[in-house]
Amino acid sequence: MKISFVEPVLPKSGTLVVGVAEDRVLTPAAALLDHDYDGIVQRAIAASRFTGKRDQTLAILAPPSLGIARILLLGIGKPAELETTHLEGFGGVVVSTLNTFGETEATIDAAGLGPLGVAAPQAAASIGFGASLRSYRFDKYRTREKPEQKATFKKLSILTTAVAASRKAFGSLDKIAQGVVATRDVVSEPANVIYPETFAEKVIELRELGVDVEVLDEKKLKKLGFGALLGVGQGSVRPPRLVIMRWYGAKDKLTAPLAFVGKGITFDTGGISLKPGPGMEDMKWDMAGAGAVFGAMKAIAGRKAKANVIGVLALAENMPDGNAQRPGDIVTSLSGQTIEVLNTDAEGRLVLADALWFTQDRFKPRLMIDLATLTGAVIVALGSEYAGLFSNSDELVERLQLSGKAVGENLWRLPLGDSYDREIDCDAADMKNISSGREAGSTIGAVFLQRFVNSVPWAHLDIAGVAWSKKDKPTVPKGATGYGVRLLDRLVAQYYED
Ligand code: BES
Ligand code: MN
Ligand code: ZN
Repeated sequence: MKISFVEPVLPKSGTLVVGVAEDRVLTPAAALLDHDYDGIVQRAIAASRFTGKRDQTLAILAPPSLGIARILLLGIGKPAELETTHLEGFGGVVVSTLNTFGETEATIDAAGLGPLGVAAPQAAASIGFGASLRSYRFDKYRTREKPEQKATFKKLSILTTAVAASRKAFGSLDKIAQGVVATRDVVSEPANVIYPETFAEKVIELRELGVDVEVLDEKKLKKLGFGALLGVGQGSVRPPRLVIMRWYGAKDKLTAPLAFVGKGITFDTGGISLKPGPGMEDMKWDMAGAGAVFGAMKAIAGRKAKANVIGVLALAENMPDGNAQRPGDIVTSLSGQTIEVLNTDAEGRLVLADALWFTQDRFKPRLMIDLATLTGAVIVALGSEYAGLFSNSDELVERLQLSGKAVGENLWRLPLGDSYDREIDCDAADMKNISSGREAGSTIGAVFLQRFVNSVPWAHLDIAGVAWSKKDKPTVPKGATGYGVRLLDRLVAQYYED
């Protein structure tokens, strides 16, 4: 979709979008239209239930003398309560509404839509960003789509008096959008297309942006002692990979980097502890943590962030097979700690154990954040509104939560603790990969990971509930959400750049 910023003039085609605040209060753009065209806006509102609540819409046929197809009234709610995420939502709502009409282009007047405290160019850019995020479709495999099923909307012009500044602000947002798209694409791809080797190949494309990419194959992993990661992958004909991305954008290349680590199970059958059949297809997105780290690195490098950042992906496919790992197998992790694998379906923590250990050992990062679709239990606890957050650092928790709130990717802190940790003590090995009951399942996963983290500030984000959406949201069409890309990018931008 094409997004452009232009000086305010009335459009000659398509749809004109104007804002109306709560309780039917017209923005300047709406008032002008109403004044020039015989009270068309007020009369349309009076004949409807439209009140100007945030994200409400009312489409009106345009008067012939205006020469365009229609006017779309867009509810913006209470202007004093507007936040940047709402502006993004407006862009998204315009795209989805106009697609249902079969419209191809629209013009939106940004005047009067900006919240107090957000500079006009930033507000205009946010509308464009939201429109771009919502226009995402994963339709490459739909070869027989009828015209009426296709998305029609192609072009959004945003009217603003600050054209140059808006374009500039949109420039860096667009890099972030490209990161989100990259994540949504890899997460949406089926497991016969994206598996450890092909995922690693995709990451290599980031070299074009100046990211250093290193891929460890199974031979190398074996030599280095990645026993936990290799155990998970040994039942698959698709061998595991560890992918390391390096973006050193800070002035001082010796500054300790931030490290992001992603769970990348390209398909999770459960292994010999096989999952039930219904819904198993969802497990193609069990690599969404790795997908988010990949997309975040693309965004961060794309906008040339002035920070040193490492991304590590732990990639494997969890399959049942004659060579697969069995319940009761004991593996030696990279850290030297041994693990009794009592349930082969608790595999995410196994691949992360080695990836976390490797990352802190090799890069001595100033902080480490892992993202993983780790437990079904976090979906039971938090649904799809919040990701679960576990951390040994109050400061990191606060920064993550503030960053998340700013971009609409929310986090809810859940506990760690010694009494939980004792639940994975084991008679046969240093630890087991599950506890004996079903209690506090997400925390059990987190304390397992914590055994592979030394003194570095660390956070674990359990994104099982937020990586995939069953319904459309203003800036997120249903399907792969790209959760985590904007969050990590914002965290870097807000707290860790030169
Ligand atoms: N990938 C799953 C978690 C998951 C479940 C993500 C549903 C998204 C939707 C993970 O590998 C898993 O199977 N976890 C087990 C852990 C259990 C065996 C301790 C779970 O949550 O049931
Ligand atoms: Mn599993
Ligand atoms: Zn899994």
